[in-house]
Amino acid sequence: MSKAVLVIIGSGGMGAAIARRIGYGRTLVLADFDEAKLETFTASIRGDGYDAVSHRVNVSDRASVASLADTAAMLGPVTGVAHTAGVSPQQAPVSAVLAVDLLGTAIVLEEFERVIAEGGAGVVISSMGGHMGAYPAELEQALANTPTDELLSLPFLSPEALTNAGAAYSIAKRANQLRVTAAAPKWGEKEARINSISPGIISTPMGQLELASATGDAMRAMLDASAMKRLGTPEDIANATEFLLDPRSSFITGTDLLVDGGVIAALKSGRLSLAGM
Ligand SMILES: NC(=O)c1ccc[n+]([C@@H]2O[C@H](COP(=O)([O-])OP(=O)(O)OC[C@H]3O[C@@H](n4cnc5c(N)ncnc54)[C@H](O)[C@@H]3O)[C@@H](O)[C@H]2O)c1
Repeated sequence: MSKAVLVIIGSGGMGAAIARRIGYGRTLVLADFDEAKLETFTASIRGDGYDAVSHRVNVSDRASVASLADTAAMLGPVTGVAHTAGVSPQQAPVSAVLAVDLLGTAIVLEEFERVIAEGGAGVVISSMGGHMGAYPAELEQALANTPTDELLSLPFLSPEALTNAGAAYSIAKRANQLRVTAAAPKWGEKEARINSISPGIISTPMGQLELASATGDAMRAMLDASAMKRLGTPEDIANATEFLLDPRSSFITGTDLLVDGGVIAALKSGRLSLAGM
């Protein structure tokens, strides 16, 4: 019998930590857009004794994601998927943030719903940024329910309406949470589960790049005001992912787990204000 397959999309800081934490004993399918990074990570984890294969993917391209999902399903039952691929406002302009973070996640949810095994589970990495905006109900409805291939035609996502990469990132991450909730009933038809995790500021290549940017001071102010007063580690996210993918979480689906050291709690309790940041 084939071993269970775990697909990790994104071989960056979080993807690597999740693969190492829960990849043993299964066939790991590692996927990323950056071929050099993907092959280096796959060689490293194989060298450590994991059973891993690599598959290049562009999450904003449906055919590419479908090929990844089909390849994974051919290797054995796809019992888990962790979607960690993404770009940040410092790394990419508005159009790429929307294509990768918003559209890409919607595509992953659909293509993996197609191949997820009975009783399997998925996790999508959103962001605490998705908890920071206050969007009108009609806009949230549209983000949750618009057919995936029409998402980027929504008027409020047009280049005229959305000109700031930070705002695009927040709306994309809110969309991730909403689409996970909307997808849960469909995943449930196979007794499969799907949830999101919203990390705070995490020490990965992406997190460090953001900290070194013009928004770094605002991010450090958030950490100072937060309950835990520290950066998150990739292992903090691997721990939460392990919990949500485990059968012991079998009653948890369609929800978002905030793993931010208390930044959003500081905002909601009034200890922190975004005004002027
Ligand atoms: N690091 C943080 O502080 C932080 C905070 C909140 C949320 N997040 C989110 O967590 C997730 C993981 O981020 P990370 O910190 O591990 O970043 P990372 O930059 O270390 O890894 C992200 C990976 O995604 C890959 N990628 C980018 N575009 C892709 C595409 N089109 N197709 C396939 N792969 C692609 C990159 O090559 C990279 O390996 C992202 O969705 C990010 O938005 C990160």
